[in-house]
Amino acid sequence: MIEDMLRTPSAVRDAERYTAHNYHPLPVVISSAEGAWLTDVDGRRYLDCLAGYSALNFGHRHPTLVRAAHEQLDRLTLTSRAFIHDQFADFCRELAALCGKDLVLPMNTGAEAVETGIKVARKWGYQVKKVTPGQANIIVADGNFHGRTTTIVSFSTDDDARADFGPYTPGFTVVPYGDLAALEAAIDENTVAVLLEPIQGEQGVVLPPEGYLPGVRRVCTDRNVLFIADEIQSGLGRTGRTFACDHEGVVPDMYLLGKALGGGIVPVSAVAADADVLGVLRPGQHGSTFGGNPLACAVATEVVRLLATGEFQRRSAELGERLRAGLEGLLGSGLVAVRVRGLWAGVDIDPALMTGRQACERLMDRGVLAKDTHGSTIRLAPPLVITSDEIDHAVAQVAAVLAG
Ligand SMILES: Cc1ncc(COP(=O)(O)O)c(C=O)c1O
Repeated sequence: MIEDMLRTPSAVRDAERYTAHNYHPLPVVISSAEGAWLTDVDGRRYLDCLAGYSALNFGHRHPTLVRAAHEQLDRLTLTSRAFIHDQFADFCRELAALCGKDLVLPMNTGAEAVETGIKVARKWGYQVKKVTPGQANIIVADGNFHGRTTTIVSFSTDDDARADFGPYTPGFTVVPYGDLAALEAAIDENTVAVLLEPIQGEQGVVLPPEGYLPGVRRVCTDRNVLFIADEIQSGLGRTGRTFACDHEGVVPDMYLLGKALGGGIVPVSAVAADADVLGVLRPGQHGSTFGGNPLACAVATEVVRLLATGEFQRRSAELGERLRAGLEGLLGSGLVAVRVRGLWAGVDIDPALMTGRQACERLMDRGVLAKDTHGSTIRLAPPLVITSDEIDHAVAQVAAVLAG
């Protein structure tokens, strides 16, 4: 039987056998990739419509990024921050310029950037705003996803992410996403920050109501509260602009960045803010052995340069309209809602037809890889190097799956 000769089944079995079951991956085993395409251990090809949760905005193995990584691997990979290395200043200066901020603080994972933002906001609260010691509070949104650390899951509203991981870190107030009046009412003299995703990715690409983000900006300014935008998934070209906040001309006090910053090659995250905010940290108060390492900086500097050309933001905006048109054409034919910004789409499948997971399995059988979330939603977030024909192909496969 041909089936017996395939490498996928045993590779799936072994992966299940030897790992904690903290993920439920699709049963596909990838062995190589280029641009927007993946190849599995049995030679089947798939169009990548997840892009590593937007860590692969520039596609798999973008030649400029791979070259930077190879060259750096041959020279210097790690110094720790105990010494300064020759890739560090360029990365920090160019990323700060891209963000329009004075300073950056590099870390590794997205969760670490969020933790960094929380620590900086609290310290700013005590040192600058003069909040009562130990009382600093941060407002977050219902349906948030900011990562997996114990502090971050403390303010998650997703039971899977939070339950049984207590005791929880205090100091957070949850308000409904998109409700400016509720947010304003939650602010008191101990509020140091509002932490939001400008678009809630894990929640299903939930877009903010028009005017919400400018409203949050205004309220934060009026009440002397920091606005922290978690652009870890929404930023760096995904939505057709450098940052999702740009769509409404909003500039937060702090950007939290990750995922695509490492070019899909190395984990790189960062916080960007002005000196009156990030300047509160002194030596010994925060850090990471690998944060800002030479390999990370070499790759991430090239990522920043790719973004500085504007080409990827343009592609995302233009091709996103094609994706929108295609998906909106399926409303009433199996899709009950479509939310698109740039090359980022959340589509709600009629739950009477199938679950999101079933849809993703059927898409996989048709050579398209995507990821479900929250029951009947699937997310499409292809690498920004995808072509218009490939978008049409992906939409056609969604249509075929919905048609059964
Ligand atoms: C908005 C947002 N913040 C933070 C994170 C956490 O990033 P990481 O998985 O790199 O810790 C994610 C990951 O999906 C995210 O989407």
